[in-house]
Amino acid sequence: MRIHHIGYLVRKMEKALRAFKDLGYELTGEIIHDEYRQADICFLEKDGYMIELVSPVSKTSVVSDLMKKIGNSPYHICYETEDMDREIEKLNEQHYVMCAQKHEAVAIGGRNVCFMIHPYLGMIELLETK
Ligand code: NI
Repeated sequence: MRIHHIGYLVRKMEKALRAFKDLGYELTGEIIHDEYRQADICFLEKDGYMIELVSPVSKTSVVSDLMKKIGNSPYHICYETEDMDREIEKLNEQHYVMCAQKHEAVAIGGRNVCFMIHPYLGMIELLETK
């Protein structure tokens, strides 16, 4: 697995974007609305690092509880894998448990992502290569 991006929770997308740009980050595409996750999402790049900004747009968002708990913060590292199902099996053996089922992510070209959680490491995201 290769690191693809770090996911970063932000309450106010436009204001966060401006602050990241002031630090030298560049927007790599548009802000995409993910209806399934009830979140606005965009990707930024700096020094070869990719950062994903995720901002909940309603109370039913998959990240609205997390936002209440941790506020504006990085919250996952995403790993790219060629074979997601095989990777999930391997991670299950390493005590990771699925916390968000495989589902396409409109902000990453419709590629499949899922989230898994480990008792001592916390949450990771898997992204299928395509
Ligand atoms: Ni992500």
